[in-house]
Amino acid sequence: MTSSQRASRIEIRRRSREGGPFARLAEDVRRGLTKTRKELPPKYFYDARGAELFEQISELPEYYLTRTEHALLAQIADPVVASFRPTTLVEFGSGSSRKTRILLDAIARAGLLDLYVPIDVSEEMLRQTAHALGENYPGLRIHGVIGDFEEHVEALPEGGPRLIIFLGSTIGNLTPDEATGFLRNVARVLAPQDRFLLGTDLVKEVDVLERAYNDTAGVTATFNRNILSVINQRLNAHFDLDRFDHSAFYNREESRIEMHLVARESHRVAIGAIDLTVDFSKGESIRTEISCKYTQAMVEAMLEKAGLRMTRWDTDTNHFFALSLSAALH
Ligand code: SAH
Ligand code: AVI
Repeated sequence: MTSSQRASRIEIRRRSREGGPFARLAEDVRRGLTKTRKELPPKYFYDARGAELFEQISELPEYYLTRTEHALLAQIADPVVASFRPTTLVEFGSGSSRKTRILLDAIARAGLLDLYVPIDVSEEMLRQTAHALGENYPGLRIHGVIGDFEEHVEALPEGGPRLIIFLGSTIGNLTPDEATGFLRNVARVLAPQDRFLLGTDLVKEVDVLERAYNDTAGVTATFNRNILSVINQRLNAHFDLDRFDHSAFYNREESRIEMHLVARESHRVAIGAIDLTVDFSKGESIRTEISCKYTQAMVEAMLEKAGLRMTRWDTDTNHFFALSLSAALH
C-alpha cells in the first residue's frame, strides 16, 4: 500500500505480507508460549503505546544508552559524512528518529542531503516521524517503510553513497544468529561506496546495566507488560497484566540483559484468536527480550563474520556505548 502526503516528498510503503508487520504475531505467540521456557519476540512491544513508552525510557536518568549515543553521534557526524559524502540515509528500527537528526543535519551542512529511508514495524511512530521531519527538512525526500528489518533489507533505494544506520543497540535485541543473519543481509546490499553505522551497548558494571532496565519510575516495567496488551488487543487474549511482575537481570554467561514477565500466581490465560490456553505456574516466566552487551572484539568479530570490515570505532570516556562504521569486505 502506498500513500503520498505533502506533494511527492513523503511516501510511506508497507513492505510486508498481508496484515502488516504484525501478521506473524499469531504464529510467533503460539510458538513462543507453547515452549517449555516461554518467550515472545521483542518486536511486538512496539504498537503506538509501546513506541511511546520506549521514548519515555530513552529519557530516564538510569537509561544511559540514548544520551550517550546522542553525544557520540554529535562528535562524529561531520567527520563521518566528510569521509564518504553520503546523499542517502537509510535507518533500520528508526523509531522517533530523534538522534538521526544529528546525521541529517551533518549531511545537510555538507550540502548533500537528498533521501531518508526510515524502516520500522511501528506504523504510527513511523508516520508521525516522517511528517515531523518533512516539516523540519524542506526538500528532503522521505521514503518510509513499515516493515520488519529481518525480512526487508534487500529492498533499499539505489543511488548514494548511502549511509545505513542501526542505532540504539537494537541489534542487541537479536540472538547472535539472528544478528549475523541481519548483518549478512546488510553486507550483501552494501555497495563499495556505502557505509554502515552501528550502535552497540558495551559490557560494564552489572549494577549500571541492571539499573537501566529497572528504573525507579517503573516505565520499563510498564513497557514490558505492554507486550501482553498487544496480544490482548490483536489476538483477543485475556492476559491480566497485574498478574505478572517485571524482572530484568544481567546474564553474565550470555553477556546480556534478559527481561521477563513472571507470573505472580498459577493461572490460565485464553488466547481467543488462536484457540490456545496457556497455563502459568507461580513464578514461571515469559522471556520478552534479550539485550546483548558487547566488547569491541565481539562487535568486530560479529561484523567480520557477516562480511563487514570495521573502519572506525568511537566510544565515550566511560566506555558505556560505541558507534562503529563499517564497509563491505567484498
Ligand atoms: N532507533 C531508535 C529506536 C530504538 S527502539 C533509538 O535508537 O532510539 C527499537 C525500534 O526498532 C522501535 O522503533 C521498533 O519499532 C523497531 N523494531 C524492533 N524490531 C523491529 C523489526 N524486526 N523490524 C523493524 N523495526 C523493528
Ligand atoms: C530498543 N532496545 C535496544 C532497547 C534495549 O535497551 O534493549 C529496548 C529496551 N528494553 C528495555 N528498555 C529498553
